[in-house]
Amino acid sequence: MQIDQLRRIRVWVEAYARASAVDGVLPAAVALKLDHTRRVAENARDIARDLDWSPDDVRLAEALGWLHDAGRFAQFGEFGHFHDASSFNHGHRGADLVRESGVLDSLDEDSRGCLLDGIRHHNAKTLPEELPPGRRAFLELIRDADKLDIFRVVAEGLERNGFRELAGMWPHINLDGPVNPRLLEDLRARDKGDVSHVKSLADFLLLEASWLYDLHFAPARARARRARVLDALAAHLPSDPDVRAVLDDTRRFLESAPC
Ligand SMILES: [Fe+2]
Repeated sequence: MQIDQLRRIRVWVEAYARASAVDGVLPAAVALKLDHTRRVAENARDIARDLDWSPDDVRLAEALGWLHDAGRFAQFGEFGHFHDASSFNHGHRGADLVRESGVLDSLDEDSRGCLLDGIRHHNAKTLPEELPPGRRAFLELIRDADKLDIFRVVAEGLERNGFRELAGMWPHINLDGPVNPRLLEDLRARDKGDVSHVKSLADFLLLEASWLYDLHFAPARARARRARVLDALAAHLPSDPDVRAVLDDTRRFLESAPC
């Protein structure tokens, strides 16, 4: 990907997000999502550089960061929240709307397919089995870059007010509800949790912890360690022995995994 193609994609995403402004002011949730988008693009670029990808591929990785959540802006515009289960799959919708926008028309077919597959599957619970070989690494990269910034958003929210704003993003959440034992089972199996099991803030934080098992690249794990993600989550989770046991095991995993 060329520099001017990357620039065109960035400008398109910013304009697409800004279309939700009311009297020139972006709704706070959309402003946060645009900020998340910018940081995911930076993460994707920086991890790709750490992995010694070619300059073309580093730009393609950054472009995928810019585009990955395009569906979120449409979702907020139509539903006023970011909950896929009660609206639509924002990865699928994002891929469709980006393709239809024409913003990728100047790219070769491989790059276009790589971006569209990356957008479509960035939020899937499991990766699709059938993907052209060159595209899988970009999909894994965007999933890592995305998770790293969600860790940051959650840690900042916890620090600020216990992340009470989660209730505005996912209206079905009972912030003070109990831990769902099914998430503890996922963590005991060192597996990522199922978003459909998240009913409370504690569940959401356990889901986040489980994502540490789902980082693909060593530079992403190194960033999660440096950011002390697990400490931030643990400080706001109940102190019962079952929860502490799965968090201790997650810490052992992160400290022993290659970084
Ligand atoms: Fe997303």
